[in-house]
Amino acid sequence: MIIAVFYFVIVNSKEAEADYQSVTKKWYGFRSKWFLFLITLGITITFLSLNPFPLPDQKKEYSSSEYQVVTVDGHQWYWNIAPVTIKAGQPVEFQVSAADVNHGFGIYDENLKLVAQTQAMPGYTNKLIHTFDKPGKFKILCLEYCGLAHHAMISELTVE
Ligand code: CUA
Repeated sequence: MIIAVFYFVIVNSKEAEADYQSVTKKWYGFRSKWFLFLITLGITITFLSLNPFPLPDQKKEYSSSEYQVVTVDGHQWYWNIAPVTIKAGQPVEFQVSAADVNHGFGIYDENLKLVAQTQAMPGYTNKLIHTFDKPGKFKILCLEYCGLAHHAMISELTVE
């Protein structure tokens, strides 16, 4: 009985295959074009949304005459930032590292909107380039859970 059912299905599916051939031919062609379209769309959106690329060249030596250099060290649970006062309109190179564990260096404006961020990792110096357009007080918050007092890792940056 089971063999008969299998036989019936196999024979009938072959007939169905022949019926669908004209349809599948047409739509398989469409499927390839649709796939190419989605790939092209994906690459275009990626290129446009990552331009300019948010990460600066980590190997480049930024000249200190053009850039204000600020060193940042994350500790459990405070920031060592020098200097804490910078000028608006001139690019800042943050050299961000950590003394103990991974921290997240996040710069927030007065409305607590994230302006720029990078990782603070022990043994590495991550470069973050940012130009502050307007003067103001900026908050530095830790963006990565780093222990009991992670929430207390708050500092301030003044832009003149
Ligand atoms: Cu440092 Cu969380």
